[in-house]
Amino acid sequence: TSRWKVCETGKGVRGQRLRGGVIKMAIADSPAWNKYQEQEQEPEHVSRKAISDSLAWKQLQQHMSEIKKTHLRELMKDEQRCKSMIKEVDGIVVDYSRQRATLETVEKLLSLAEEAKLSEKINAMWSGKHINATEDRAVLHVALRAPRDAEIMCDGKNVVPEVWGTLDKIKDFSERVRSGKWIGATGKVLTDVVAIGIGGSFLGPLFVHNALETEPACEELAKGRSLRFLSNVDPVDASIALKGLDPETTLVVVVSKTFTTAETMLNARTCRAWITSKLGVDAVSKHMVAVSTNLKLVEEFGIDPKNAFAFWDWVGGRYSVTSAVGVLPLSLQYGFDKVEEFLKGTWSMDEHFRNTPLKSNIPVLLGLLSVWNVTFLGCPARAILPYSQALQKLAPHIQQVSMESNGKGVAIDGSPLPFEAGEIEFGEPGTNGQHSFYQLIHQGRVVPCDFIGAVKSQKSVYMVGEKVSNHDELMSNFFAQADALANGKSSEDLKAEGVPASLVPHKVFTGNRPSLSILLPNVDAFTVGQLLSLYENRIAVQGFIWNVNSFDQWGVELGKSLASRVRSQLNAARTKEAAVEGFNYSTTFLLQHYLK
Ligand code: F6P
Repeated sequence: TSRWKVCETGKGVRGQRLRGGVIKMAIADSPAWNKYQEQEQEPEHVSRKAISDSLAWKQLQQHMSEIKKTHLRELMKDEQRCKSMIKEVDGIVVDYSRQRATLETVEKLLSLAEEAKLSEKINAMWSGKHINATEDRAVLHVALRAPRDAEIMCDGKNVVPEVWGTLDKIKDFSERVRSGKWIGATGKVLTDVVAIGIGGSFLGPLFVHNALETEPACEELAKGRSLRFLSNVDPVDASIALKGLDPETTLVVVVSKTFTTAETMLNARTCRAWITSKLGVDAVSKHMVAVSTNLKLVEEFGIDPKNAFAFWDWVGGRYSVTSAVGVLPLSLQYGFDKVEEFLKGTWSMDEHFRNTPLKSNIPVLLGLLSVWNVTFLGCPARAILPYSQALQKLAPHIQQVSMESNGKGVAIDGSPLPFEAGEIEFGEPGTNGQHSFYQLIHQGRVVPCDFIGAVKSQKSVYMVGEKVSNHDELMSNFFAQADALANGKSSEDLKAEGVPASLVPHKVFTGNRPSLSILLPNVDAFTVGQLLSLYENRIAVQGFIWNVNSFDQWGVELGKSLASRVRSQLNAARTKEAAVEGFNYSTTFLLQHYLK
């Protein structure tokens, strides 16, 4: 049933009315399809009270049938509604009037927030309670960007001085490297940095680096320097990361919260060999530094603990870009002061999140609307569409933040969720995406879209003879796409335009497809920080409402442990000690084929 609910808005899926009024049967009407549907399992018995048992939830379900009768085209005519759905925070304009929601929907979502004890959960996070229950940890990435004089307590201790202890150490170290006071083993200045890390120890720093790389002030600050990332264990990635670099002028930063991640440690050993084969073993102390919570393993690896930058177990990997994980490589590239602007941007949005009443709190409202889209309207995916090339890595980063956080099947108390949580995130910068997957978004499945644009471009190109600047051209698409999705185009309009009847169904746009518009003043260190915090906090809100633990990631473990079993078998088979055994037929066959 739920499958068909998802399809409901994409009218015409089940049966196509052909010319002459003949109904063509769809594959979904076939006996084989019905049999498949019958086989679907009922969810496991839910013993504990879930948020979906609450009155607020039930009222939203009832309200859903009302909303399904309305079309965004009509909702957009209500100017009062639209006006109250456009908010501005510290220069960022957020317009959620193109969500399939009325003011009543928002009221009902706020009642759900109350029922889910959202304010209490936000307070628990900020006050250092161990809300990551399965790992018995606090969740305090917000403390990483707090001003020096702030007080954020964790286990009876203010953590802000420690945070600033590391920030001061990064400032000092990065200034010494950038100024040439810290030199390599052969006396050369270190101009190139390779940051090794994966997942949260890579995606956030990559996103911010890409966003700043083309910003004029940052370009100036990074002159003569380069920052590269090495994440994949695929040897191709190492060859790309090291291509054209000389160990004599390269600093390698090994970034790993645990310092045990297989891919990162193998890449770290690869880079260590690359350095020592040319410069000797002693060069490691000048050419390799680390960022980790596990300083013991850093030392065992051979990196001087003096050259290690700490963070804490209350920082989740995917929330760690504002720790040394991101701050160190970015400071080496752009200087600490620039990175501090980024931290200030995140803090400005954090403060808004912490202090603003729920009804005008942007991360809260957007989080609630995402829950509405996913769980009530049945849209499991979200497209993140920055109309800014500089934000090209926003979607991959948010993919991890969101999907590793909320892709869960049980509530925080371990009871199975009686509804789907989590959101499938994907995206590409506009306008590239328009020539790729927008077809599906406009006429296929309903995918709520986040459009992100900037008033001012990092670059201005305005050629003589062109009617608009390149940035205006880009932004014309930003404005147009949201209305195309909302309004669509009817068969009546098409007929009036003289479109041949046989083509009309193919050219109809049903519209009624929700989107969100986020308009930044520009893309710089501060606004990138604001945007990051907006997403981080919004995703936390979604998890708080679904009542999942957004801060653990047990789902990544099984694949890792199976890989380690395969690894030892591969090793044994290669050294002819043992045959491949203990796997199912398929894996055994594939492994044997691979080994052959
Ligand atoms: O993929 C699982 C994960 O644990 C992520 O949560 C984390 O960001 C990544 O691996 C890297 O972990 P580490 O920083 O410990 O190397």
